[in-house]
Amino acid sequence: MELTRRKFLGGAAIAAAGAVVGRRVRRAGGAPAPLKIGLLLPYSNVYAVLGESITDGLSLVFEREGWSVAGRRVELIKEDDEVNPQIGLRKVKKLIESDGVDFLVGPVSSGVLAAIRDTVHQARRILIVANAGNDEISRDRCSRYIFRASFSNWQPNSPMGGWVAAHVAKEAYLVAPKYAAGFDMMRAFKETFGAAGGTVVGEDYTPFPVNEDFAPFLTKIKQAAPKVVYAFFSGSQAVRFVRQYDEFGLRGRSRLCGAGFLTETDVLPAEGSAALGIITGHFYSTLLENRTNQAFLREFRDKYKRTPDGFAVQGYDTAQVIVHALTATGGDTRDRDRLVDALRSVEFDSPRGRFRFDPKTQNVIQPFIYVREVREVGGELANVVIDRIANVKDPGTGCTLPG
Ligand code: PHB
Repeated sequence: MELTRRKFLGGAAIAAAGAVVGRRVRRAGGAPAPLKIGLLLPYSNVYAVLGESITDGLSLVFEREGWSVAGRRVELIKEDDEVNPQIGLRKVKKLIESDGVDFLVGPVSSGVLAAIRDTVHQARRILIVANAGNDEISRDRCSRYIFRASFSNWQPNSPMGGWVAAHVAKEAYLVAPKYAAGFDMMRAFKETFGAAGGTVVGEDYTPFPVNEDFAPFLTKIKQAAPKVVYAFFSGSQAVRFVRQYDEFGLRGRSRLCGAGFLTETDVLPAEGSAALGIITGHFYSTLLENRTNQAFLREFRDKYKRTPDGFAVQGYDTAQVIVHALTATGGDTRDRDRLVDALRSVEFDSPRGRFRFDPKTQNVIQPFIYVREVREVGGELANVVIDRIANVKDPGTGCTLPG
């Protein structure tokens, strides 16, 4: 009967009716309504592997919970946003209006998050961002209904500006994909690099999401012969960039540094020896020795037969956020204010350290940003921690006002 009603109702009416249907399902007795979690992630295109890692990390937690949280059966509804803002927007509307999800999880791309932010906010649906780092979401486009369990683009890059200027060189060429994440990350680096006496000698933004050939940019970099190249690339673009950088003979001439995604474990095996010596900033390394990380590595390797990456940690932490908040509300997701309060108070041990949201931004406080160098460890490439910066909070000050 519910299905017939849902089919009969059109477009926007479904959103309002969904809440009523939800209440009825619960009041009618029997099993509580399932906990529906809509995953809006890329399962194709440049960031496909990131989407898979996040999903795998998240599933590990729910599996441990027996796919049930606070008495509600967990149901995942996966949608591929294809790293495309318009497709992301269409899919998020489908997840909210026709699936009636309790939580949204995702996306990976800052472009997709920018496109869906207003729809999520207006629908008052809880979104736990599991990757996309747009700084604006912790600043002038923050929302009471949006939490970020991953990072803001500022977080891994701002500490690196000062660090590179102090420890590597004071002359850098910047390169990143031409979209919000690339701009945010380079801006954050430039601010602290400049303040520490660094000079930017060149800056390029490359086609996104599709770019096979970095040759025109690498040619310019070779001519400029900077001491440092600071880059952000991720997924399949990171593999191409790092390999082509090596093929161009730039490794050994200009020290490659960047945001951690450039050499994360998802791309490191494919980059191979071309990645040796790259220095990056990130909130995680598989080599962290804390107990939670050791258990996470064991669980993940047992189940998936591969080494996890920072994206899997983001999925794992996102699921833990949901479990902790829902346990605190006794499984209730209807009282949004209560749920938001529960989410704001969540705290637990993550593989990256103690996990807490900053109440000002609802963005995770990074216990550390690790400065890592790619080296060979026990016959495998790994991001070896060579320094760390503690307690890195996005500088956003918004999100104190309700609504
Ligand atoms: C982003 O678009 O915000 C983004 C994508 C991939 C990353 C990091 C940030 O690895």
